[in-house]
Amino acid sequence: MKIIRSKAELRAMTEDWRRAGDSIGVVPTMGALHAGHLSLVEAACAATDRVIVTLFVNPKQFNNPEDLAKYPRTEESDAEKLTPYGADVLYVPDGAQMYPEGFATTISVSGVSDGLCGATRPGHFDGVATVVTKLLLQTDADQAFFGEKDYQQLQVVRRIAEDLDLKTRIIGCPTIRESDGLAMSSRNLRLDDRARATAPVIREALSRAAIEIREGVSVETALQSARSRLTDAGMGEIDYLEFRGDPDLAILSTADRPGRIFVAAWLDGVRLIDNVPVHEASQHERRLEPAD
Ligand code: PAJ
Repeated sequence: MKIIRSKAELRAMTEDWRRAGDSIGVVPTMGALHAGHLSLVEAACAATDRVIVTLFVNPKQFNNPEDLAKYPRTEESDAEKLTPYGADVLYVPDGAQMYPEGFATTISVSGVSDGLCGATRPGHFDGVATVVTKLLLQTDADQAFFGEKDYQQLQVVRRIAEDLDLKTRIIGCPTIRESDGLAMSSRNLRLDDRARATAPVIREALSRAAIEIREGVSVETALQSARSRLTDAGMGEIDYLEFRGDPDLAILSTADRPGRIFVAAWLDGVRLIDNVPVHEASQHERRLEPAD
């Protein structure tokens, strides 16, 4: 796997691939790679001839400077983790490559960006939208792979690709979880042992609420009991816990069409997010189903 740090070198590489008739896949990341990221790389390697993994901790999408400063930077071990997968290039631009002096453009998506993380992290999705648009253009990708773990981000990126007539097809991939159900995230590394033992309650509370809504319990009641479950288990402040339509992310007060339950909650000074579908029961949710 080649490590490329400049736009010009990347362009020369993708032009060579194009001349050879190869298709190109991209997996945008901020590094600190775990099995969730690697599942996207696996999907990309299966779908396209050439795969570029990008690693850029994008300052424009951090609304909290402390969060940006604490973000893990582990390029060497990331490159090692990628080696067995067969990605062709790890693209690691620096700040000057991405945002040279005079940079003045922002991509801003209304609607799907507005609630959930958009409401609690002002400016976050403008930063994501701007960097993802640049990465899709820089890599000349036919397909780009994003995780459902960040479901709102996936919908924002789908909107950009459609609205700006990008040629890149956006592919959503399922959330990869630890064996106890906690969604994999580089932020999990910041939890101490006690908080790590508490964190699986997030997925449990969401799955339980999804089952209740499917069984006809009102959305309000199901969300209220999920909230109590989280608080009783020792979770801190809940930024949001909502049932939203798929794929428009409009707030739903009844389950009259497909939707997902979304949460962002704090634990031990770490903000964790997760979401589950209400209408397609996963294995794990079925296991939690009451025995009757
Ligand atoms: P990052 O948090 O590094 O995530 C990179 C990609 O991995 C995203 O598409 C994310 O949804 C996916 N991912 C993370 N955890 C996952 C899990 N447990 N299962 C499946 N996929 C998972 O998301 C970003 O970076 C940035 O916002 C980025 C898109 C790179 C723009 O800067």
